[in-house]
Amino acid sequence: MRDRLEALQNSGLAEIQKTEDLKQLDDLRIKYLGKKGEITELMKGMKDLSNEERPLIGKLVNDVKEKISEEIDLKFNFLNEIQRKRQLETETIDITLPGRKITKGGLHPVTETELFIKEIFREMGFDVADGPEIEETYFNFDALNIPETHSSRDLQDTFYIKSDVVLRTHTSPVQIRYMKDREAPFRMICTGKVYRSDYDISHTPMFHQMEGLMVGENISFANLKAILTEFVSKVFGERKVRFRPHFFPFTEPSAEMDVECVVCGGKGCRLCKGTGWLEIMGCGMVDPEVLKEGGFDSEKVSGFAFGIGIERTTMLRHGIDDLRAFYENDMRFLKQFKK
Ligand code: PHE
Repeated sequence: MRDRLEALQNSGLAEIQKTEDLKQLDDLRIKYLGKKGEITELMKGMKDLSNEERPLIGKLVNDVKEKISEEIDLKFNFLNEIQRKRQLETETIDITLPGRKITKGGLHPVTETELFIKEIFREMGFDVADGPEIEETYFNFDALNIPETHSSRDLQDTFYIKSDVVLRTHTSPVQIRYMKDREAPFRMICTGKVYRSDYDISHTPMFHQMEGLMVGENISFANLKAILTEFVSKVFGERKVRFRPHFFPFTEPSAEMDVECVVCGGKGCRLCKGTGWLEIMGCGMVDPEVLKEGGFDSEKVSGFAFGIGIERTTMLRHGIDDLRAFYENDMRFLKQFKK
C-alpha cells in the first residue's frame, strides 16, 4: 500500500509537471482527487489493514492528497498567468488611437441668415414679433389695401384653404396684427415662412421673409433710408445702395432697394444681369389706409415698412445660384455652411 501510494504520488506529480493547459490539469484533478479517482480507489483497500497500520496509512493518504492538490494549485496559477499574458498580447487595446468623433449638426444656411439679420435689427432696437402662417384673407390682403382685383390675390399665386383663409403669401399681415395691439412709437421685425404657388430656379412654393415696421411721429423716408442702408452695410459690407420707385398696395411712396453687385462690384456680370445692381428688398412709407386699419391716425403718426427675402439674402451672401439647393437636403451642399 505504501508503495502504491508512493507510485501514485510520483506519477501524479510527473503528470502535473507535463500538463500544458488548464483543461488537461482539470482532468488530472479528477483523475487523482475526484470521487471516483485513483486515491479514492486505493482507500478502498484500507479496510484490510491492521488496526495499527490504518492510521499511519490514513495519514499518508492525506499527505499524498495534499501534495497533489498543492501541486495542481501551483500549476493552475502558473498556467492561468500564462494564459492571461497571451491574452493581453493578442487582444491589446491601442489607447493612443484617437476617439470617435461626435458629429454635430449645423444650422441650415437660411436659418443662419435669418438669425444673423434678426440680430442686426434687434441691436437697432427692433422688437421681434410673430404671426400665423395660416392667415385670414383680411390680414393677408384686405387690411393691407390689396383689392380683390390685385394680381397677388389671383388663385394661381395663393394657396387657399377656405375662401377667406390662405397660407400667408407674405409676412406683411403681421404688420396689421402688431399695430392693432400697440401704441406708437414702435419698431418691430418679424421673420417666417410664406407660401406662393411658384416653382423654378428663383422661386420655391415656400420661402422665408423678414418684415420690418416702424411707426411714430415724424417718421420719414430719410429714416427708412438710414436704417436700411445701415442694415445692408452690416450684411454685405460698405456698398453703394439705391432706391428705385416701385408699387406696393400697402406703402406709398414705395421703392425697391438695390445693392451694388456683390460679385462684380457694379461693373456688370451674370449675377446682376449686366446692371451692376442686385435687388434686395421692397419698402416704402406705410399707406394711410393701412395705418387706419392698424388703429392709427395717419394725421398724427407715420411709418415705414420693408420686406426682405431671406433665401435671396442667403444666396447673395454665399454666392449660391440656385434657390432650390436650399430644399434638396443634399448633405454635400449643407455641410459647407457648418460652423
Ligand atoms: N410684402 C412685400 C412682398 O412680399 C414686401 C414689402 C413689405 C414691401 C413691406 C414693402 C413693404 O413682396
